[in-house]
Amino acid sequence: MLLEGGVKMNLEKLLEDAKKARNYSYSPYSKFPVGAAVLTKDGTVYTGCNVENAAYGITMCAEKVAIAKAVSEGNQYIAVIAIVGDTEGPCRPCGSCRQFILEFGDEITVVMGNLKGETETKSINDLIPFSFSKKDL
Ligand code: THU
Repeated sequence: MLLEGGVKMNLEKLLEDAKKARNYSYSPYSKFPVGAAVLTKDGTVYTGCNVENAAYGITMCAEKVAIAKAVSEGNQYIAVIAIVGDTEGPCRPCGSCRQFILEFGDEITVVMGNLKGETETKSINDLIPFSFSKKDL
């Protein structure tokens, strides 16, 4: 698959990047490390991991960290996000992360994976149907 300007999309590499980012997870409370990797339309990759806190509720999910890194570096045109966790099946983004991903495009491809190498790919639109977004404002 090709991105803008003929940039090639390598979903397997993106999953590998998410898996590597998982190694940096700060998750002493849940002991559930998650890694994410965002691919922007110009082919740049931004990674993230979950960052927990003793005040549990302010924990940051891996997807949000990766997206915030992309946006805060001036790159908000997201094509794909990959997520990896040690789940039974492919690791799904939580509801809050689905909404966060949707903000940057309803055609973003979400690649979900686990440590067993199982993967599933969906459009964010399929993961959050009947959504509320900027289109409603
Ligand atoms: N977590 C993520 O990083 N992304 C998700 O989409 C689901 C959950 C993290 C939050 C918390 O640190 C741990 O996984 C257990 O919920």
